[in-house]
Parts: sequence; C-alpha cells; structure tokens
Amino acid sequence: MLAVSRNQESNMADAGWVRVAGVADVAEGQVHAVRVGDREVALYHLPGGDFRATDNVCTHEYALLSDGWLEDGCIECPLHAARFDVKTGKALCAPAESNLQVFEVKVEGGDLLLKV
Ligand code: FES
Repeated sequence: MLAVSRNQESNMADAGWVRVAGVADVAEGQVHAVRVGDREVALYHLPGGDFRATDNVCTHEYALLSDGWLEDGCIECPLHAARFDVKTGKALCAPAESNLQVFEVKVEGGDLLLKV
C-alpha cells in the first residue's frame, strides 16, 4: 500500500487533487490500495486505461476491497462476496446494502491524481 504524506497532500490540496500513485503502479485489470490522510482508497485500472477510485473498505463489515477480485467493472469483497460497481459505487448484491463512496481520479503524465 502506498501512503501519501501530509506534505504531498497539502502541496496539492489547493487544487483539490492529490497524487496517490504512479500509473505504472496499477496494472490493467488490477486494484491497488492507497491511503490519503486517514482514508483508505482503492484504485482500479479498467480495460482501456480507465482509472476509477472508491473507498477501499467494504460497506458491510471490515474488509479491504483491494484484497478482492476485479471483474467486468465490479469489485467483489473477499470476505462475504458482496459486489460493487467501481464506476458508481453501487452495491450490487447482498450482504452489502450501502454504496461505496467514489472519487474522481485522473491521469496526469505518469501520475494518478485523486480529487479530495
Ligand atoms: S465485509 Fe464485504 S461483504 Fe461482508
């Protein structure tokens, strides 16, 4: 897991965007965990260079979605198999009843920036 230092965070916070990873850190089809301040965030690299970001903690109980499985634009929780749409955060099946928070993410050069 990458951690973003408070310095990095504050340097870019004025613009509302924080560098959270390099593009090369998140292979296509993979999910990558980062921490931004106290927040756990999951970064997803979907086919075609489409990067998405959601809360990394499942809304059912405590499990990190970055330990789960990314398939067809959905992340499956490793603990009880709830699935979420990574573009909208929508909980797609039980046992999760609440949606995930989603974050804007963009590519700038070789960096992935998250809007906070
Ligand atoms: S903790 Fe994710 S489905 Fe239960």
